[in-house]
Amino acid sequence: MRKTIIAGNWKMYKTIGEAIEIANGLKREFFQLDTQVIEVVLCPAFTALSEVSEVLVGSEISLGAQDVYWQEEGAFTGEVSCKMLKDAGCSYVIIGHSERRQYFGETNDSVNKKIKTALSQGLTPILCIGETLAQRESGNTFSVLEDHLSHGLAGFSAEDAERIVIAYEPVWAIGTGKTATPAQAQEAHAYIRGFLAKLYSEESAQRMRIQYGGSVKPDNTSDLMKQPDIDGALVGGASLSVESFAAIVKKALEVKK
Ligand code: 13P
Repeated sequence: MRKTIIAGNWKMYKTIGEAIEIANGLKREFFQLDTQVIEVVLCPAFTALSEVSEVLVGSEISLGAQDVYWQEEGAFTGEVSCKMLKDAGCSYVIIGHSERRQYFGETNDSVNKKIKTALSQGLTPILCIGETLAQRESGNTFSVLEDHLSHGLAGFSAEDAERIVIAYEPVWAIGTGKTATPAQAQEAHAYIRGFLAKLYSEESAQRMRIQYGGSVKPDNTSDLMKQPDIDGALVGGASLSVESFAAIVKKALEVKK
C-alpha cells in the first residue's frame, strides 16, 4: 500500500514568528498521527526552515523546502544547496512548481538537475507537473504531463524514481478556488501512473506516490482522496491555517486508513 502524503506549501507567506506559531499548532494537532497510513510535510519559506525544524522535533511531521539549487556549493548568489536544506532539517524538497516554471525560468532541464542532486544528497523530491488552462483546452493535457515527466525524470533508474513523489497540479486550479473534479484528477493521475509504468515498470509505478494539488480544501479532500490513484495532496492556501490544514489531514486519514 502507498503511504498517503499531505504536504503544505506555504509559498511566500509567514514570517518566522508566524511560522513557529502554526508549526506549534500542527504539532499539537498531530501528536498521535497514524504514520503507518499518512505522512505530513510542512514546506515553509527558506527563512523559517530552521526554526520550524526545531518546533517539529519530537513530532511526526516532516520538513521540506520549496526549491533548491543543483550545485553543491559555490558563487551562486541567492541560491540554497541540498546540504544547507538538510542542515536546516529538511527531508523533502518541492521541485518544478508551476510558479517557478512560470515566473522564475524553471525548465525541465533545471528540474532534472535539481532532482538528481536532491536524490544524491538523500532528500526526497516532490516533482510538480501539470498543464495550464490553455493547454487543457487545446487537448494537450496528456502531452504536457508526458513532457514534464519524461524530461524531468530523464536518466533516472526505477529505483531512483520510486524515491520521488509526483505532484499533479493543474495550473488552472492553483489559487483559483477551481479544483479539478475528482474525476478529472483521477483521469490525470491514472494517466501519469500509466506513463510511469511505461518509463519503468508496472510494479514501480504502483509503488510511486502521486499527490494532487490545486485548491484542495477541507470540503473537497474526501472526494479527491477516494480516487484510487490519488495518494495525497500538495496544499497551498489551505495549509496556512492550523484549522484548515488539520482538517484536510484528518479527512485524508479517514478515507485512507
Ligand atoms: P492552492 O492550494 O492555494 O491552490 O495552491 C496549490 C499549490 O500550488 C500547492 O503547491
